Amino acid sequence: MEQTYIMIKPDGVQRGLVGAIIARFETKGFYLRGMKMMSVTKEHAEKHYADLSSKPFFGDLVDYMCSGPVVCMVWEGKEVVKTGRKIIGATNPLASEPGTIRGDYCIELGRNVIHGSDAVDSAKHEIGLWFPEGVSEYAHTAHAWIYE
Ligand code: TYD
Repeated sequence: MEQTYIMIKPDGVQRGLVGAIIARFETKGFYLRGMKMMSVTKEHAEKHYADLSSKPFFGDLVDYMCSGPVVCMVWEGKEVVKTGRKIIGATNPLASEPGTIRGDYCIELGRNVIHGSDAVDSAKHEIGLWFPEGVSEYAHTAHAWIYE
């Protein structure tokens, strides 16, 4: 089944939003396949955001990502990439609908608490980058109660 890479950024960790964010994915019915807290090196943040390296905000973005620990997760489920982006909301929190994570928990573009892969291909790439050790493949007992 489809997997996506979700990361609670340093502001989300510092503000105590880890549990609330996990709850949104968990209660939706997605399966948690991997989770760890880690500090991010400059090189790793630059790799993760390599597509944005020419943008004027790139340096600040990398500094922000390295400013404290992040929580890295892999979530799995039907259309989890697209649905995960819906749960997260628009990139700019001011444009995010209430009810989304960014719509409910933050204000500034450069402090938008969470990352989520934007496509199936980038999800695969990001999962490989953040979880080179792989993720768990345990059998989920609720499966038949979530999928018909
Ligand atoms: P992007 O990949 O465009 O958005 P998303 O996180 O929704 O996939 O941008 C990555 C991050 O870069 C974004 O979450 C916040 C930051 N950012 C800025 O600081 N300024 C900007 O103008 C943009 C577009 C993004």
